[in-house]
This record gives sequence, structure tokens and C-alpha cells, in this order.
Amino acid sequence: MGWFSSDIKSVDDLFLHTLQDIYYAENQIEKALPQMIEKASDPELKRGFKAHLGQTKAQIKRLDQVFKKLKQQPKGTQCPAIDGIISEANEIAGEVDDKMVLNAALIAAGQAVEHYEITRYGTLVAWARLLGHAPVAKLLAASLKEEKATDKKLNDIAKRKINKKALTASRNKARGKGEKGSMLAMAGM
Ligand SMILES: [Fe+2]
Ligand SMILES: [Fe+2]
Repeated sequence: MGWFSSDIKSVDDLFLHTLQDIYYAENQIEKALPQMIEKASDPELKRGFKAHLGQTKAQIKRLDQVFKKLKQQPKGTQCPAIDGIISEANEIAGEVDDKMVLNAALIAAGQAVEHYEITRYGTLVAWARLLGHAPVAKLLAASLKEEKATDKKLNDIAKRKINKKALTASRNKARGKGEKGSMLAMAGM
């Protein structure tokens, strides 16, 4: 069902549809994170992704509780936005061969996912409050807080070390190639 489908007639419908959207997204993220953990070579980044996988599983359970409180069956609806973000992350990770540059790419991809979740949970909290579902709003706000903290943590790792290490690694590689190139030139090759 698309965002502007005629099946959505009220704010209640829109709220439920968006809950199904984030439910689908969280399940896709749960499937994607193990690959990101495997690809990350920085131990702090690996630990960060691992911790967030645990949080993601708990967030899915939290959404199950939300559906229960609303007397709805937990169900996802396909979300092309998160599919796109995840497939772009896989694509770029497959194209980066330097480990340090790959860590920087993984953080950027992870932050894109977090920002998507932040926008969805932010809207859901506001609509839950608007519709008078205070306990549901509280559950959703807990997940929103975790997504924001994860985004901040990724940002901190990137700024503190990963981005600089990626830059140094790529410059060293370029320099190495340059030296090799000039040696070949000197040898007349
Ligand atoms: Fe999440
Ligand atoms: Fe997240």
C-alpha cells in the first residue's frame, strides 16, 4: 500500500500504515546489520553495530507491544525507502576495497538508516500523542531516543578517528601508486 493510497482515509489509518512501515524497516535492518558487523574492521565500530543489533531486536518487540496496545496484529508493509537505503549501502560496501575507507562508508550508510528511523519515529510519536495514545507514544519515544543516540555515537566515531584514518589510508595508497608509477617510468617501463 502506497503512502497516498485510497485505503488511507484518516489520521488513524495513516498512523497504522506508518507503524507497519517502521515495523518492516526494523525487520530489514535486523537482517542487514550482521553484514555490516562483519564488514566493519574497526573494533569500536563493530561493537557499536553489534549493540545496535541488540537494540533493534528490542525495538521490534516494542513495536509488537504497540500493535497489541492498539489491538492490531503486528504486520509490516513494504517500504521502498528503507529497501533503497539498504541496497545502496550493500552496493557501495561491495565497491570499496580499502578497509579504512570501507569503515567510513559503513558509518555513512548506518547514519542514513538512523536518520530514516528518526524521521519515522518522530512522526509516530507526534501522531500517537495527537490521537491520545499516551502509552504507545511513550514506547515509540524510547525507540526514537535510541536511534538518536546511535546516530550521535556513529557521528562521534567518524569524526574522532574513522574519517581521518580513511583519508590517510587513501592518500598513502595514492602515494604508493605514484611512487610505483615513477619507478616504472625510471626503468623505462
Ligand atoms: Fe531501529
Ligand atoms: Fe536504528
